Amino acid sequence: MSDPTPKDPRLEQAGATDESLLAAHEKLLGRKPDDGAHYKMLPLVLLFVFSGLIFYAGTYLNRYSVRYDATVFDENGHSTKGVAAVAKADPMVLGKKNFEAVCITCHQATGLGVAGVYPPLAGSEWVNGSEERVIRIVLYGLKGPVTVKGATYGAVAMPVFGKVTGSGYNWNDERIAAVLTYVRASFGNKAPAVTAEQVAAIHAKEGDRKEWSEEELLKIK
Ligand code: HEC
Repeated sequence: MSDPTPKDPRLEQAGATDESLLAAHEKLLGRKPDDGAHYKMLPLVLLFVFSGLIFYAGTYLNRYSVRYDATVFDENGHSTKGVAAVAKADPMVLGKKNFEAVCITCHQATGLGVAGVYPPLAGSEWVNGSEERVIRIVLYGLKGPVTVKGATYGAVAMPVFGKVTGSGYNWNDERIAAVLTYVRASFGNKAPAVTAEQVAAIHAKEGDRKEWSEEELLKIK
């Protein structure tokens, strides 16, 4: 057996590197080294263009999408042309929706409340009495003993509905006016409507404050 000499062609092949083999193959196949296989960074310009578009789209949606609120939405509202002609939702429709979304859980669908816990709105001297008092009750809440139709309540507080610190609802003045208008004209009650302007005036006068007590309310005419 003869040892391969340095001139042996087999030795030359064995010494070939992977890269030179690859190059040789690609040459044989008539292909250039594959540039497409290399990762190329996305041009920065495109990155900025797309970020800009996403930002624009977000701002656009935020600006032009209608704020949808199931308790305010009026499915009977008519379509209107132009911003100036936006129809005011009927306070009775809006008020009923809001009453049924929230007040109903305590004061009940009949407006009769729950004996000893939730006072009645039906025939209540507070509901049918001075707007000054009833607006304050819904705007800021009511806490402590209160007499309604001869019975005393006070185990639980009436929640704060207005845009007041600590309010769980943050209803605007229009919404409060609507629910009061509805309550004052339902369950046999026949008191006049409450306007958003009346609520706004009391809101501006009282500012930010805590729940009323019966005693404080009775001082207001
Ligand atoms: C979590 C239960 C609860 C909800 C919800 C609630 N109330 Fe009350 N409400 C009370 C309680 C309790 C009182 C009595 C508070 C007290 O004893 O100091 C009261 C008192 C009242 C009063 C004065 C007393 C009377 O019976 O006339 C009015 C008016 C009133 N609520 C209206 C409303 C309206 C309108 C809503 C919906 C916007 C509403 N309430 C939602 C519990 C509730």
